[in-house]
Amino acid sequence: MVEVVLGIETSCDETSAAVLVRSDEGPRLAGLTILSQDVHAIFRGVVPELASRAHLTAITPVVRQALDEADLVLDDVDAVAVTAGPGLIGSLLVGLCYAKGVAAARDLPLVGVHHLEGHVFAATLSDTRLAPPLVALIVSGGHTLLLDVPAWGRYRLLGGTRDDAAGEAFDKVAAMLDLGYPGGPVIERLATTGVDRFAFPRPMRSDGFDFSFSGLKTAVLYAARASTDLEADRADLARSFQEAVFDVLVDKVDRALQHTGYPRVVLGGGVACNQALAHRVRDAMHAGIEVHVAPPRLNADNAAMIARAGWFHLEAGTRHGLDLDADPRLAWPGLEPAPLVA
Ligand code: KG4
Ligand code: ZN
Repeated sequence: MVEVVLGIETSCDETSAAVLVRSDEGPRLAGLTILSQDVHAIFRGVVPELASRAHLTAITPVVRQALDEADLVLDDVDAVAVTAGPGLIGSLLVGLCYAKGVAAARDLPLVGVHHLEGHVFAATLSDTRLAPPLVALIVSGGHTLLLDVPAWGRYRLLGGTRDDAAGEAFDKVAAMLDLGYPGGPVIERLATTGVDRFAFPRPMRSDGFDFSFSGLKTAVLYAARASTDLEADRADLARSFQEAVFDVLVDKVDRALQHTGYPRVVLGGGVACNQALAHRVRDAMHAGIEVHVAPPRLNADNAAMIARAGWFHLEAGTRHGLDLDADPRLAWPGLEPAPLVA
């Protein structure tokens, strides 16, 4: 039986390690370290080679700190879970090689985790009773997915983005408005002081489960170019953009709940750190629908969610060998294609 799992996440620009320990209520988060690489800010986006190098420098002290926080040492760990993909190949390899090293040296079980499956599990770390059936909306920098989750380990893809991911749209709009990188947090802050007065389009709002954000992004670009006083318009542009994105997300979640008949939805991924999104979804849902959102620290990239998804797979008997490879486009085990829906 698994008692202590070490999780490692290095798929993009966060170096993270976490320690989960068995408790009566389920896996308990005992230690979590997340080191966000600030080397990319000046480039307004993640530079893969710099990310790999920063992971290499950070991985050992990050793991040590997570163990210290849990008051444990490597000898106490009895399984290792690591992000195997998707992500940046060089970054993934740092975490994967480290995890393999620990597993090989101590003869521990190793399990590779799909990064997005980690995001689905994140909310269970703060609410250990949370369980399927559920609808999951995963909104991150690289993905926008609406999932039907009838049971852990089984995922039906209802819809995804046809172009930009939701977080990517936040980052690009922030760049247009000269707000720096990453864009999400600064747009959220600015939007609190703005007014939704630009009447931006709500792409595909009443149309199935797929998303499209690139037309909206272009609409913001044209509005910013047409502005004669960008300084004064910035907050309203941010608010109008954010409202347009969230109107679409809220309607799709509502449609997915009606379609599945499930009583709960989980929001995950970096964009789910946005408090306004959680409020909007809670306000829009019918009575009896549970809305679960992890605290921001667990919704952004972190190793705790990887350890938690890995815990599930370890308990189900999954073990990966030392030939486990990093895969930038890793297919999601257990993900079924979308059923045909109106
Ligand atoms: O899940 P995540 O940390 O990394 C990926 O797996 O991509 O998501 C990062 C994305 C970025 O695009 C970032 O701008 C966005 O999440 N994000 C936010 C907020 N915080 C982060 N978007 C909107 N509001 C936020 N507060
Ligand atoms: Zn992520």
